[in-house]
Amino acid sequence: MMCPARVRAWTKTSINLLSLFLIIGLGIDYDGTHSAQTDMSVAYSLEEYVAAVVAGVGRVCDRKGVQHPVICSESGRAVVSHHSVLIFEAFSATAPASNMMDPATAYLLDELTDDCRSDYRNLMVSAVRGDFDTYGLYADQLKRHCAEQFKEGVLGLEHLAAVDGLCEIVARGMGAAEGPRRYHINLSVFTSLPDMWAIEQLFPIIPIQRLQERPAVDGVLSDLTCDSDGKVDQFIGGRSSLPLHELPTHGTRGYYLGMFLGGAYQEALGGLHNLFGGPSVVRVSQSDGPHCERGFMVWSREDKSISCRQTREM
Ligand SMILES: *[C@@H]1O[C@H](CO)[C@@H](O)[C@H](O)[C@H]1NC(C)=O
Repeated sequence: MMCPARVRAWTKTSINLLSLFLIIGLGIDYDGTHSAQTDMSVAYSLEEYVAAVVAGVGRVCDRKGVQHPVICSESGRAVVSHHSVLIFEAFSATAPASNMMDPATAYLLDELTDDCRSDYRNLMVSAVRGDFDTYGLYADQLKRHCAEQFKEGVLGLEHLAAVDGLCEIVARGMGAAEGPRRYHINLSVFTSLPDMWAIEQLFPIIPIQRLQERPAVDGVLSDLTCDSDGKVDQFIGGRSSLPLHELPTHGTRGYYLGMFLGGAYQEALGGLHNLFGGPSVVRVSQSDGPHCERGFMVWSREDKSISCRQTREM
């Protein structure tokens, strides 16, 4: 936590230290476990941190006969991380996996070349026998052959999709679990969550609506940019999917998620990737001034407006 060598080096100078400015890290309990088991949490409190720093500095100064300094600290993330929430919409999701093959897929499978069709037959035979390992081998082989023929221009992208669909239906028929669904979110990971992409920092993400309903779908998040990296598929607690609600099938939009503890850094680091633009910013501060008695001042960057809201309106 402290760097004793640095303090010793300072105390070697004949000048008495008047103040010591600390910018060393104070951890954040990102995963809520309050434990030292993961990098995502801290097992100490602010008081314990302060006590350890003050005691450490005091000890070194006493040993060297140096006057005790005033200690200032600026633990960036710990100061600002709780001060912002990123709210974004999941506006659509991939369809729930179907257990039936639709006629269009069956038609595309009919068009496969002889090579692929023989893999397909072998795959179905091992599936009927319930032999999952052999099924897996034939499924891989079928996908490989089809991909080769796609590169040669013999098969189209829709054939590859039909083969993927077939393999999923068969695997589920054999008892394999359904993979997570993909929720499309209206943001750019590079603009709004740069640390998540660059240093695999995890931030807590949860739905901020329908909290009275138990989320029944496992989903991963996929952003709207054209980059394959624009996704979130690692979550707090070592999870590779997030419990989410089923989106309504018709029309109604507005399923919002919140990403917490992002602080000031995510917005400051993110550029205007892909010209996607940043999120709208609204600043809310508690106020008890003459214009806003016991309320909250709400400032919006978009239209530079300031308004006052009472707690019950928020
Ligand atoms: C994403 O958000 C922007 C800004 O609110 C909006 O103009 C755009 O229509 C949204 N896109 C989708 C696909 O919802």
